[in-house]
Amino acid sequence: MKRKHSLVLVGMLGVAMSLTACGDDSDSGSSEGSGGGGGDTAGKIGVILPDTESSVRWESADRPALESAFEEAGVEYDIQNAEGDADRMTQIADTMIGNGVTVLAIVNLDSESGAAIQEKAASQGVATIDYDRLTLGGSAEYYVSFDNTVVGELQGQGLADCLGDKDANIVYLNGSPTDNNATLFAEGAHSVLDSMTNYKVVGEQAVPDWDNEEAATIFQQLYTAADGKVDGVLAANDGLGGAAIGILEGAGQAGTVPVTGQDATVEGLQNVLAGTQCMTVYKSATQEAGALAETAIALVNGEDAETTGTTVDSSDDSEVPSILLEPQSITKDNVKDVIDDGGQAAADVCTGDFAAMCEEAGIS
Ligand code: BGC
Repeated sequence: MKRKHSLVLVGMLGVAMSLTACGDDSDSGSSEGSGGGGGDTAGKIGVILPDTESSVRWESADRPALESAFEEAGVEYDIQNAEGDADRMTQIADTMIGNGVTVLAIVNLDSESGAAIQEKAASQGVATIDYDRLTLGGSAEYYVSFDNTVVGELQGQGLADCLGDKDANIVYLNGSPTDNNATLFAEGAHSVLDSMTNYKVVGEQAVPDWDNEEAATIFQQLYTAADGKVDGVLAANDGLGGAAIGILEGAGQAGTVPVTGQDATVEGLQNVLAGTQCMTVYKSATQEAGALAETAIALVNGEDAETTGTTVDSSDDSEVPSILLEPQSITKDNVKDVIDDGGQAAADVCTGDFAAMCEEAGIS
């Protein structure tokens, strides 16, 4: 079953809406812009990011990439962060709708609150987009993300490449149970690793809200329960990987036990260069933000956006028109690719002791 496009009138509503040029907001939690002096596109795009704790990506990579994409497209925008609080996301959405956004993109904190936001938006004639995370049971017109099953496959393959043919005990540190992506990452990783009979899963747990501190506690428990006999860690992102590396360091095993990650954060890339992390997954924020801007503008104009296919919402088997981008596996050998692509600045990664490692990796 395909979701209905109920909002073909959005473009016309957008044209009728008055354009209020907003200056840049100095408040760190929000940014607004008029898209390069007034905006070429009639309409305003609201984006609500999830938090600042589950990954540094949202504020350090997504926000600036979204600002550039909207500025370049000449569209008015308002980007806010829900700070990990679903009620706050709901309030921000209400305010944005009240302030006349034509399209609302959210990175949900859980599907239930996300679906309620989308339902309310639709009732007010506001089109919605799922940014990065699919809202199960939601009503978004489009889903813009990376292929998250492939992300998990890259992590599984990356860990296998680091471990090799030996017998190995593996611990999984999965993402938040409320995040559909976390389910896909784990499925992707299992689809690669489960068929490798020399590997044994000796512990697996989801980390609520991707909380990095809780991840350290959980990993410590799993590590102790396995009598310290852990040979590899499938960590779902760089933050969770960093938590595991911290515990392994305490046990004198950092660098000998490969750990995976995701997001190609500064810390993740530094750990990869130092050899305490076996790999990370790079998902270009420029690409994802650009795809969101294009999709949102199509909606504002009442046009169909270009999609790469559909994604099945596992809660009701509906098909959500999607734009899914290709993630890239990063090891010590190609950290340079992330820098060359502008994913991180060499000046941020190559600090202190990392300067020499950067040089060795061909990063200047
Ligand atoms: C995103 C990851 C991120 C995680 C925690 C996931 O939905 O796809 O990139 O690390 O959330 O914020």
